[in-house]
Amino acid sequence: MEERGAQTEEAEERAMPTRRAVLQAAIGTASIFTALSVLYVGAGLIPRVTKTPENAPPQVGDILVYATGDKINQSVQVTDLPEGGPFLLAFPMDPKTKVVRNKELKNTLLILKQAPSSYDPQVAAHVSEGVVCYSAICTHLGCTVSLWEASQKLLRCPCHGALYDPRLDKVVGGPAPQPLAQLPIRIEGSQIVVAGEFLGPIGAQV
Ligand code: FES
Repeated sequence: MEERGAQTEEAEERAMPTRRAVLQAAIGTASIFTALSVLYVGAGLIPRVTKTPENAPPQVGDILVYATGDKINQSVQVTDLPEGGPFLLAFPMDPKTKVVRNKELKNTLLILKQAPSSYDPQVAAHVSEGVVCYSAICTHLGCTVSLWEASQKLLRCPCHGALYDPRLDKVVGGPAPQPLAQLPIRIEGSQIVVAGEFLGPIGAQV
C-alpha cells in the first residue's frame, strides 16, 4: 500500500509541471484578451480627427497669412518682410474660400527674407525674391520655433535651444535631429503663395 501511495505521489509530482504550464498558459491567454479588450475600448475613446479644410496641409495655390498679431489672418505682403530678418509666423489660407488652415499645429510656418545670394543652392531652388518658408515646428520635441538670433541670423527654438540656419537649411546647434522642412513658395503680385509640398518630415523626429 505504502509503495502504491509513493507511486501516486510521484505521478502527481510529474504531472505538476504540466498542470502549472496549462495554468500559466490560461493566465497568459486571459491577459492577452484583457490587453486586447483595453486596446479596443481605448481605441474607441480616442477622438477621431476629422479631415477638414482647416486642418488640411498647405495646398499649392494657398496664400500665406499672419498667424499672430494685429494683422492675424491678413495676407503677408513681401514688403512686410525686412531683408535680413526677423521672420514672422504664418498659416496657409485657401484664397477662394478664405479658409485659414490653422487647426493643425503642423501648418505653422515661418517666413523670412534674406539676400537671394545668401542661400545654399538647394534652398534657393524653392526661394522666391529672397523669401524662404519653413515649417515652424521644431524637429526635436515639436515646440514652435519662435526666436530670432539677429546677430547670427539663426532661428532658435525656445524649448531646448535648437538652432537652425535658414540659409543652409541645417541644424547648427542644440538637440534637433533634423533641419526644418522647407515649403516651396512663389511670389504673385506681393503675396506669398505655396508652390509645392513640404520637402521633408514635419514636427518631432524621434
Ligand atoms: S523642442 Fe525645440 S529644442 Fe527641444
